[in-house]
Amino acid sequence: AQPLPPPISDTSSILVNDADHPFIPDQPSDLRGPCPGLNTLAAHGYLPRQGVVTPGQIITAVQEGFNMGYHFASFLCYSAFITDGNHLTNLMSIGANTTTKGQPTTGIDTHGHFEGDASLTRDDAYLGNNFMFNQTLFNAFNESAAQVGNGMITFEAAALDRAIRINDSIARNPEFSFETPRFLGAIAETGFFFAMFVNNQTVDNEKPLSLNDAESFFGNHEFPQGFYRRQGPYEFPMVKNVTYTFVDMIGVKPGNNNGVNNYVVNPEDPMTFCYFYQKQVNLTASLYPNPTGALKQAIKANLQTYYETLGDPTCEQYFPYGQ
Ligand code: HEM
Ligand code: MG
Repeated sequence: AQPLPPPISDTSSILVNDADHPFIPDQPSDLRGPCPGLNTLAAHGYLPRQGVVTPGQIITAVQEGFNMGYHFASFLCYSAFITDGNHLTNLMSIGANTTTKGQPTTGIDTHGHFEGDASLTRDDAYLGNNFMFNQTLFNAFNESAAQVGNGMITFEAAALDRAIRINDSIARNPEFSFETPRFLGAIAETGFFFAMFVNNQTVDNEKPLSLNDAESFFGNHEFPQGFYRRQGPYEFPMVKNVTYTFVDMIGVKPGNNNGVNNYVVNPEDPMTFCYFYQKQVNLTASLYPNPTGALKQAIKANLQTYYETLGDPTCEQYFPYGQ
């Protein structure tokens, strides 16, 4: 287990598509996955281009390239790493599972760990490929931008696109699963592209996203020409604020399909980040029912770091392997 890296010191808006970080199209041996943010950082060399990374590299890269806030970035990174990473080698793939120096390196496209249904531009695992860009799904952006955004992806258009994609999964995926953590993750991610894919986005997230720039990130993993990261970090309180604003706008509640077009809300799901953390810890405990030795020590240390990244002492801490 690694300690967290320090935060970056300058969080102003700077040119990030610069000479030191040229776009290189993905090579056959490069791993890419369901996250357009991480894919773009790897294709520009903010992350190792091959796509095999450590938590520290992710936390630093998302700040440098996108101005994702240090605390939220650490939380998000560990939300994925504890279930999708290799606790002994400290490595995680930003796409599929692979092998590094003879050791398994597990990846963030593992369905049901952090990756989940109703993605904006990737299919549900039940319906197809859960990590490759899908142009047909992306076209819901064109639809929503035309309907409510004057051709741009405004906040309203982003909410509409989010709703369209949820309704599509309800209509087509008999196994559609949309409880927390996926529920909060899917909705938070709608805020991510709005807050961080817009050139020189303001602290109040005022500017809309163009369809061209959206496709550049989601489809090509490429920063638009002359791209400046957002002004000021996108930090935990803002993430919560934006996420719950979308939740209210969309009006959907956490739940599951019981066959197509039969969405059953789970009224017990509290839709909180404490619960998000709790569910990821439970999943980790089920993936590693009986670790021993160095593995047990590493998982315990990573779970401790994960709790600390929540930054909310009112959330109960869980110790599946004892204190
Ligand atoms: C989706 C991981 C940072 C933007 C995802 C998904 C994963 C993931 C596993 C797939 C979820 C799904 O759709 O099923 C991470 C991790 C990060 C990170 C571990 C580390 C901090 C970022 C950043 C951005 C971003 C910095 C934007 C600048 C997005 C967006 C989606 C997404 C927009 C939704 C894609 C879609 O629905 O098609 N992320 N991500 N992520 N991520 Fe990231
Ligand atoms: Mg998905």
